[in-house]
Amino acid sequence: MDTNRLQNLKNQAISSILETKNEQELEELRIEYLGRHGQITQLLKKIPSLSPEQKKDKGNLINEIKKIIEEAIISQKKNFQQKDNQEEWFDITIPGEKPVKGHLHLITQAIEEITDIFKKIGFYRVAYPEVEWDWYAFEGLNIPKNHPARDELETFFIQNLKHPKYGEAVLTPHTSSGQLREIQRLGKLPVRMLNVAKCYRRQVDISHAPMFYQFEGLVIDQGINITHLKGTLDFFVKQYFGPQREARVRPFHFQFTEPSFEVDVSCIVCGGRGCRVCKQGWMELGGAGMVHPTVLKNGGLDPTKYTGFAFGWGVERVLMMKYKIDDIRLLFSGDLRFLEQF
Ligand code: DAH
Repeated sequence: MDTNRLQNLKNQAISSILETKNEQELEELRIEYLGRHGQITQLLKKIPSLSPEQKKDKGNLINEIKKIIEEAIISQKKNFQQKDNQEEWFDITIPGEKPVKGHLHLITQAIEEITDIFKKIGFYRVAYPEVEWDWYAFEGLNIPKNHPARDELETFFIQNLKHPKYGEAVLTPHTSSGQLREIQRLGKLPVRMLNVAKCYRRQVDISHAPMFYQFEGLVIDQGINITHLKGTLDFFVKQYFGPQREARVRPFHFQFTEPSFEVDVSCIVCGGRGCRVCKQGWMELGGAGMVHPTVLKNGGLDPTKYTGFAFGWGVERVLMMKYKIDDIRLLFSGDLRFLEQF
């Protein structure tokens, strides 16, 4: 029972199987090799009487050959059966039905794009809870209980949930609530966070949804000043909206920044000349400013040593500006006719 003989036997078997012309011939071959008195069956019967190492080597080989022959028989059988079916004419050139291929939602695409832009200049992404304590969302950010700015944020409150130190629970109304969380988590400088998260406010119209996304930048270190903020804004605006776009800052007021700014981008419709869509060539992007000393103190940092800047904008807002979409509700509609365009 030498190996060469076994290999020859296998080759012989395979070529005979391939030469068969119908199922009957194939069945005859099956009996010849695998039947009760078939050649392979005979060989298998001899295995127990072999020496121990031969038992292993030859045993494996014979079993392998048996498997190959079985598979060849099955596949030849399939060929015959397919030929039978082809009696019924079938046009195999008809294109198949392609499964519909989806893609990421355009908000997810925008979040990824925004994250990549900020990563290039050293920001890292974080995410913080959507259900947040009052202290992180307001108090710690220098927005006390009865301050009118709190009405503007039109917050959702969670009933009967209170933290002994951090106060009531709210659905976070802005990503600024990640500022103190990040300072505490990191416990060292520099902070260069990009916090992208869902935010909630009681508001619905064509440019506001009760659930929306914001992205918040926060940089804190020694010697951070307004030029760093302006450079970062310019970089983002050019990367996201195109190299011709410019950013400008206008004085504004936020409780957690001083000075505070509203950031504008040169109008993407008229390029800055002034048109129906913009305000004299500029469109509002969102808020920014230098981190308020009280916020730094609340985070345990010495405001005489460290400074920082922050900005917080709506993901949907920048996205709608880029693609000139005029109703935020389209983004959440799930309407494929709209979504397939992106
Ligand atoms: N949190 C503000 C809002 O949602 C936006 C904002 C303004 C964020 C100024 C900032 C900032 O980081 O510096 O209306």
